[in-house]
Amino acid sequence: MVRQRPTASLFVPAGGSLDDLREAASGCTACPLYADATQTVFGEGAAGARVLLVGEQPGDKEDLAGAPFVGPAGRLLDEALAAAGVDRSEAYVTNAVKHFKWTRKGNGKVRLHQKPNAAEVTACRPWLEAELEAVAPEIVVCLGATAAASLLGNEVRVTRDRGRWLSSDLAPRALATIHPSAVLRSVDEAARVEAFDGLVADLSLIPPALAG
Ligand code: URA
Repeated sequence: MVRQRPTASLFVPAGGSLDDLREAASGCTACPLYADATQTVFGEGAAGARVLLVGEQPGDKEDLAGAPFVGPAGRLLDEALAAAGVDRSEAYVTNAVKHFKWTRKGNGKVRLHQKPNAAEVTACRPWLEAELEAVAPEIVVCLGATAAASLLGNEVRVTRDRGRWLSSDLAPRALATIHPSAVLRSVDEAARVEAFDGLVADLSLIPPALAG
């Protein structure tokens, strides 16, 4: 018999409001990541937000603050959204995985981000599904490969499929684009500008879709 790994579905209150979900998620132990994280970082925004943005997982700053995209990647995201004409304060912002996965290098103080594995993403997916149900957005935006795989399936390739509307049963429209951290990791200024402009171009699909 194949042993099923636990998922967050054990913790998700059926039909819960965003406040109910946030409260329940604060005690989630469905995967081992809770043990080394400061807290669950649940999504932020209102039910009824027309755009729902999904990143990978909280980083160091988000883990400490308890809010998504408040560190360097968040500032870059804010810049890109503003350049694309999307108001972050009207969007719902969340992550595929709700706990910070990290490792320490040597005896140093810095907590280094580690990519969540497929089991951790799967374990956390019920929270994302519940957020989608509660928010019911018109547009879902997957920022990077982890979010795209969790929401749109493993066959989606961000480099190939970004910047156009993708079919999804999650929302009337789905979009995949790069993660803001990819811009921050650019090797030089020219690459940074190119990556940033590409992110803005992808996000620029949103305002006309909301208007149309
Ligand atoms: N990276 C993410 O994917 N999400 C955050 O909230 C912060 C950094």
